[in-house]
Amino acid sequence: DADLLFVGEAPGAQEDEQGEPFVGRSGDVLDSALRDAGLSRADVRITNCVRCRPPDNRNPRTAELANCRGHLEREIELVDPALLVTLGKVPAEHLLERDVAVTSEAGDVVDCEVGDAVWPVLLSVHPAATLYDRSQEETFTEAIAAAAAYAGDGGQSRLGEF
Ligand code: URA
Repeated sequence: DADLLFVGEAPGAQEDEQGEPFVGRSGDVLDSALRDAGLSRADVRITNCVRCRPPDNRNPRTAELANCRGHLEREIELVDPALLVTLGKVPAEHLLERDVAVTSEAGDVVDCEVGDAVWPVLLSVHPAATLYDRSQEETFTEAIAAAAAYAGDGGQSRLGEF
């Protein structure tokens, strides 16, 4: 029962160990951006496109994404969020089924058909991108702030501010 559903790529090593998404360094970045936006983990739901850790941290393969697609669609349907937020290129391209330039498209909200319904999806860079490239920090925190404003408003009225 969350207004915001964040969709990452796949569990990393720590996530795999603990059975929770985004509990490693990327999770710290996400938590801090949520806090800055006045939210906590308890206010949102966080998931991944695939449920198992791809070996050697490689990107999930098309067949692996397809394998987990039913779980993701069911989760979206059950949570019924006001907004989906993709974290990084893999979930954005998986849901939108097109190439996505995440840095230039970050903050955009696009309609996306998933299962039998159409959902608004806000595109964001992956939190880990901020660890490798400080210039991505603002892009990331602004996208999370836009998502929080969208959910707080129950709609799109404040998106123009970002
Ligand atoms: N990166 C992801 O995309 N998902 C996680 O759960 C952790 C790191």
